[in-house]
Amino acid sequence: MNIIVTGASKGIGFELATKFALHGNHHIIAIARDESKLEMLRNTCEEINPQAKLYPIPFDLASDNLANTNLKELIAKRLPHIDILINNAGLLVNSHLLNLSDDDLWRMIRVNFAAPAQLIKLLLPMMRQGSHVVNISSMGGFQGSAKFPGLSIYSATKAALAILTECLAEEQKEAGIAFNCLALGAVATEMLAEAFPGYKAPTSAAEMADFICNFALTGNRYFNGKILPVTISTP
Ligand SMILES: NC(=O)c1ccc[n+]([C@@H]2O[C@H](COP(=O)([O-])OP(=O)(O)OC[C@H]3O[C@@H](n4cnc5c(N)ncnc54)[C@H](OP(=O)(O)O)[C@@H]3O)[C@@H](O)[C@H]2O)c1
Repeated sequence: MNIIVTGASKGIGFELATKFALHGNHHIIAIARDESKLEMLRNTCEEINPQAKLYPIPFDLASDNLANTNLKELIAKRLPHIDILINNAGLLVNSHLLNLSDDDLWRMIRVNFAAPAQLIKLLLPMMRQGSHVVNISSMGGFQGSAKFPGLSIYSATKAALAILTECLAEEQKEAGIAFNCLALGAVATEMLAEAFPGYKAPTSAAEMADFICNFALTGNRYFNGKILPVTISTP
């Protein structure tokens, strides 16, 4: 399968790319800003399974307009079509709205919502019947869940991503392209450690990646346009 994982330089995305490498002869594009970490990921994947091909694309998803960049060209050079797109890259700046800089506010909107929307728009022509888009949201952006001070813009951008998923599933129903959204609970990564120092998450990045990998490969047979809470901790 031809697979794209954004935010693959660390945390859940890094583990996710290695799971795909382990479980088949997939062609995987890994997108993030940190080139050296993406190289490390490529080496790790090659060690796990020399048949799997991982192509790192160092790229800043906070760019104003992805259509004006060479991102699509870079992707099309490596993959003729796309079976799975996982919008996993995310940014969390923990700050009450009153103290949040405008720069951080717009960066969260760009990375968590605008970039997935633009990436989907850019890559839809490369998808076909049976393709699956998985958007990674958060329990913070899940209606009725516990909310935390300092996460207003982060949670709102994740909620926007969730509703985008429902709408696009409807728009692309005839084309047979499935869209699902996973609203994750706490996972032990750098993001969580920075936002909630000292908090011990019940789920490791590798465990969550295992679930997302299986879901991305088979979940579109059972789900479309769904926002699914993936948590054992958050109410
Ligand atoms: N950990 C949790 O408890 C938790 C809970 C709910 C939801 N989530 C969601 O799960 C996803 C993965 O989170 P994580 O915990 O693994 O976070 P993480 O360890 O902080 O990793 C975030 C990833 O996103 C990439 N990224 C951030 N800004 C980017 C940009 N401007 N351009 C390109 N890539 C960018 C980072 O790569 P570079 O820095 O190299 O660019 C990194 O690979 C996120 O969407 C997050 O919101 C996490």
